[in-house]
Order: sequence, then structure tokens, then C-alpha cells
Amino acid sequence: MLLEKIEALRAQIKELKADNSEAIEALRIKYLSKKGEVTALFNEFRNVPNEQKREFGQRLNELKTLATEKINSLKEKSQASEAQANKIDITRPAFPSEIGTRHPISTVRKEIIDIFSRLGFTLADGPEVEDDLHVFTSLNFAADHPARDMQDTFFINNDPNDVTRNIVLRSHTSSVQSRVMKTTQPPIRIICPGRVYRNEAITARAHCFFHQIEGLYIDKNVSFADLKQVLLYFAKELFGPETKIRLRPSYFPFTEPSAEMDVSCMLCGGEGCGFCKHTGWVEILGCGMVDPNVLELCGIDSKVYTGYAFGVGVERITNLKYMVKDLRMFSENDVRFLKEFEHVH
Ligand code: DAH
Repeated sequence: MLLEKIEALRAQIKELKADNSEAIEALRIKYLSKKGEVTALFNEFRNVPNEQKREFGQRLNELKTLATEKINSLKEKSQASEAQANKIDITRPAFPSEIGTRHPISTVRKEIIDIFSRLGFTLADGPEVEDDLHVFTSLNFAADHPARDMQDTFFINNDPNDVTRNIVLRSHTSSVQSRVMKTTQPPIRIICPGRVYRNEAITARAHCFFHQIEGLYIDKNVSFADLKQVLLYFAKELFGPETKIRLRPSYFPFTEPSAEMDVSCMLCGGEGCGFCKHTGWVEILGCGMVDPNVLELCGIDSKVYTGYAFGVGVERITNLKYMVKDLRMFSENDVRFLKEFEHVH
């Protein structure tokens, strides 16, 4: 009995036809589901005498395999013809997924950090929402210094009577200097990369936020010659071994003496061209010897220790290296702009 049923089903299954997924699914249910005809035969298998179990077991398994394979092959055929009807090439490789690129500011920041790391500088960090003490007062800014004006600095609270009035968005990374000096005794040798904010109208040449890297070195017997040597190494690493530097006297409240550093123009090599306004030099950073007042305000003995500091604008360096004309490009995240830096690492 069972043998006949198996044979009958086998003949049926061999001839099965269906060309769409619903019809194929109906066949699967008819034969292979829990209540399907093939499954039903497995239930009858219980009544087969023991000595015949082996043979029947084999035949039943073969039948099940036959049914499964038949249905699978019907499925494949119908999918292939459906794909063809829709003109889909199922053998075509998938579209490559878009991979992002490193932002030019990140690339240049990393490059600057790497250069100073090689000289033994370690990273320090501080908050972007700062207080007046760390951004201005500890750094020797006079009470009436214009940077403390709302025109230049973002105040979290504009009400002059409010106690949170002294909370600002830091306008320079020099604030990290004062934090580190207050908690660490020399030797101190740090660089502090970070974002800074200024109350400026956004144009091609100014933005309300940008990035700086601050450097600070404090120890016994640190001199201006040390500063100059480190900055010369930095300039050569960044713009090439032919690069020259010059230091011009300048003023910052937290350094004395203070200087601004120029490097020989990377376009004309110092000959003079339109880019360097025919001077042969372009300005890249501010620096100086840490003012003894600042050391004392931050709890460091200015009779024992001296130090130097410098502050570099990351956008400025990026502009000089890659001739980006408009500062707004850096924050618009236009992929066409970012893609241009795909091969820069
Ligand atoms: N904080 C200055 C700025 O934002 C940059 C700077 C100048 C930092 C001289 C320094 C320095 O550490 O010594 O313009």
C-alpha cells in the first residue's frame, strides 16, 4: 500500500509545473507542509513492519528530496524569467557603496599634531563652553580688553546682572593653557587642538567658528631661541625643507615678548607673487614667551620657570596648503568639495 502511494506521488511530483511564486508556494504546501501529502506518508511509516523500515525509510527520504528539489528548481526558473521580464540582470555586481573621505580640516589637524608629537608634545583638551577666568582673566586680558566685548565673543547669557554672565564660547584655545597650568606643575609640553568661536559675520574670509591648535612649553631655562627652533622645524615639516621663517614683533596679552610668524611663500618660494602680495612671506601663527603674570595667575613660580606658547589656525594652514579660497567651504560639507581631498592623507 505505502509503496504504491510513494510511487504514485513520485510520478506526480516529477511532472509538476508552475511558473509563478504563488502557484509554487501552493505546491510546496500541498506536498511538503505539515499537512502535506509527502509528510502524511511519513506518518504512515509508523505502521511499517520493522524489517521493512529501512527500505521504506530510504524511499520516503528520496521522495522528500525529490519534492524539495523539484519545487526549488521551479522557484529558480520562475525568478529568472520574472527578472528577465523586468529586464533585471541578476548577475550584475551591486553598486559600490559610497565611502566618505576625511575632512581636510581633520587631515591638517592630524598632520600638525603628528609634527609636534615627534617633538614630545602631548595632547591636552578643554571645554568649548568656558568661563571668563580661563579665556581672559588668567591670560592677563585687561578688564576693558576689546575681546571681552559682545561684538567679539559669544556670551551664553547677555544679561549683565546674571551670574552666568561670565560663561562664554571660548574665542581661542589659549584657554586650555590656563587650565593645564592651574592643575600641573612644569615641565609642561602640550598641544591643544580644538574649535573656537567668534562673533563674526560669515564671509569667505571670516567665520563664527574655526579651529586652532595651541602649543605650550614651560620648564626651567626655556628661551625664545627654543621657540624659534621648534617653529622652524614645524614650518619645514609642514611646507617642505626649503621653507624659511621670520618672526615679527607683535602683541598678545598673555605673551611678552610676542611675535607673529611668517613663512616663505609656498607658491613663489619667496620671490614675490600675487598670492603673497609680492612680499615673499605669508603669516601663519602667533607666538611668544609666556608672560610672567600669566604664570603667576596660574600658580607657577615665574622666578623658577619660563615658557613659550603659540597658536595656529587650522583653516589658515589648510588654505595655504590647498589654496581653498572660501572659508565657508569647510563647514558646508558639499561632497564635491570634500571629494577633492580623497587622496590627501
Ligand atoms: N590666542 C591667539 C588667537 O586666538 C593665538 C595665539 C597667539 C596663541 C600667541 C598663543 C600665542 O599661544 O602665544 O589669536
